[in-house]
Amino acid sequence: MELFDAIYSARTMRMIKPDPVPREILNRVLDAAIRAGSAYNNQHWTFLVVTDAVQKKALADIYRQGAEHVRDGYAKRVLPPHITPAENLKDLNSAMYLIEHYHEAPAIIVPCLYNVPIKVPWLTSEQNTLFALRLAGASIYPAIQNLILAARSFGLGTVLTTLHLCYEDQVRRVLGIPDDHLSFAMMPIGYPVEEFRRVTRKPVSKVAFENRWGTPWRA
Ligand SMILES: Cc1cc2nc3c(=O)[nH]c(=O)nc-3n(C[C@H](O)[C@H](O)[C@H](O)COP(=O)(O)O)c2cc1C
Repeated sequence: MELFDAIYSARTMRMIKPDPVPREILNRVLDAAIRAGSAYNNQHWTFLVVTDAVQKKALADIYRQGAEHVRDGYAKRVLPPHITPAENLKDLNSAMYLIEHYHEAPAIIVPCLYNVPIKVPWLTSEQNTLFALRLAGASIYPAIQNLILAARSFGLGTVLTTLHLCYEDQVRRVLGIPDDHLSFAMMPIGYPVEEFRRVTRKPVSKVAFENRWGTPWRA
C-alpha cells in the first residue's frame, strides 16, 4: 500500500471483527513497530500480544471500569471549534461501543517500555520528571504509529487507547508487567467492521508556525 494512502486512512477503528489474524501478519506488524527509533537506541520496548480469551476478557473488564469517566468526558467537555456536537456524540458512541466489545478483538497489543531512571543534575526534580515523561513517550509512540500504519497496510484496524492507565496496577497484575516497566497503550487489533475512511484534521495552515511562535506557516 502506498505510504500516504495508509497515513490518510489509518483512522481510529473501534468496531473490530473477531476473525483471527494470521500470526505472520501480526508478526509483520510488530516487526514494523520495532523499526522506529528510541532514545539512545535503547529499544527498551516490549509488545505484549494478548490473544488468550481469558486474558482479553480480564483486560476488557478492567477497561470497562472507565465507562462513566468516558461518558462524562465526552458529555461535559468544552468542544474545540473543529468538533461539532454531532461528531462528539458519534465519538462518544464509538468509544462506548469499544468499551462493551473490547474483548472481541482477536488480539490486544499492549506496548510497554522499561522506565529508565533519569536524573539530569542541573534540572529540578519537576523538570527531570517532565523530561523523562517525554523521552519515554517519544521512545514508544513512534513504534506505535509504525504499528498502526503497518496494520492499515494489511487491512487491519486498531485504536490507541489509554483508559487502562487509570487502572494500571490491575493491568500489571493480569499481564505480569514488571514494576520497572510502564505500559503506554492498549490496542485492540483485527479486521474492521467498517470501511477505512479518510482521516480529517485541522489544516496545516492552522497548526504550523514559521520561525517563531505566532508567525503563520504559509502552506
Ligand atoms: C493519546 C491518545 C489516547 C487515546 N485514548 C483513547 C481511549 O482511551 N479510548 C478510545 O476509545 N480512544 C482513544 N484514543 C483515540 C482518539 O479518540 C482518536 O485518535 C481521535 O478521536 C481521532 O480519531 P480519528 O482517527 O478517527 O479521526 C486515543 C488517542 C490518542 C492519540
